[in-house]
Amino acid sequence: MNIGFVGLGAMGELIVPRLMRAGHQVTGWNRTRAKAESLIAQGMRWADTPHHVAEQSELVFSIVTDSKAMKAVALGPDGVISGLKRGGIYVDMSTIEPDASREVAAQFAKAGCIMLDGPLSGSPVTVVAGNASIMIGGDEAAYEKIKPVLLAIGPKVTRIGGNGLACQMKIAVNLLLMVEVICFGEAVALAEKGGVARDVALDAMLKSVAASPVLGYRGPFILDGKMPEVPLADVTLQQKDMLLALNLGRTLGSPVPLAAAANEMMNACRGLGIDGNDFVVAHRVYRKLGGQE
Ligand SMILES: NC(=O)c1ccc[n+]([C@@H]2O[C@H](COP(=O)([O-])OP(=O)(O)OC[C@H]3O[C@@H](n4cnc5c(N)ncnc54)[C@H](OP(=O)(O)O)[C@@H]3O)[C@@H](O)[C@H]2O)c1
Repeated sequence: MNIGFVGLGAMGELIVPRLMRAGHQVTGWNRTRAKAESLIAQGMRWADTPHHVAEQSELVFSIVTDSKAMKAVALGPDGVISGLKRGGIYVDMSTIEPDASREVAAQFAKAGCIMLDGPLSGSPVTVVAGNASIMIGGDEAAYEKIKPVLLAIGPKVTRIGGNGLACQMKIAVNLLLMVEVICFGEAVALAEKGGVARDVALDAMLKSVAASPVLGYRGPFILDGKMPEVPLADVTLQQKDMLLALNLGRTLGSPVPLAAAANEMMNACRGLGIDGNDFVVAHRVYRKLGGQE
């Protein structure tokens, strides 16, 4: 299949090689071209705008920071919508507000195209391991048509419902993940303050029933010298999702008190100037508050 790909950041640059390995011809674009060079060397075709990407593709993916960026690449003057042929499919994988995704889907429908929301649960580590899960919102027939392509990205694909519902689901999944990772820092700090060595606490945590995939790959980052130089998701990127959860809680009237508490720990990371790190760094805030460093 001729596939277009817009947004070659930490996630996009790892998804594209999976599509190419599955035999698809991929044409890509990124705002900062330099990030595309290694993919071009691996066989990705470059296009100068999202419009030109879409012109050459039956199916276009995007994965960019937020809804403002998604609207820019989808609906802007050189956007995907102006290049996609009637009947073409556009899947946005960014983690964004459900209503923003629905608004863009309505514009694509008016233009005779189909847009699906397709956020992905996982991290760069999960994508490389071939273990990411994808949630889809929107037209069922389009979903069935592109399912084999989605399976090349990750083995767990679920249609959640109509447009926007996959974004809604992704925010709920991330709420659970963020509270879990931040609470992990709270739990380790408590164990350490009581005299358990950090590596022993980590090992016990990961062998317990409270272990999970995200703690399995992120937990070891809290050991001395193990924090990755390039974060899987830094505090700022992750806090974007926390704010999405808090805002949805407010607009839907569904309380999210644990999200609010975890968000305060992210604010503390910012205050301490450690927000450029992977957000598991929140464990350091607990240690400071408990007088451990
Ligand atoms: N990292 C994770 O673990 C993870 C997991 C699942 C989902 N996600 C979600 O996936 C999305 C991308 O995350 P990421 O980790 O790949 O982030 P990233 O490495 O920061 O990449 C962001 C991408 O968005 C592009 N972008 C930002 N603003 C833009 C604009 N106004 N116009 C055009 N392009 C723009 C960037 O282009 P430049 O290169 O030019 O800056 C870059 O390609 C986010 O919604 C994130 O929440 C991330």
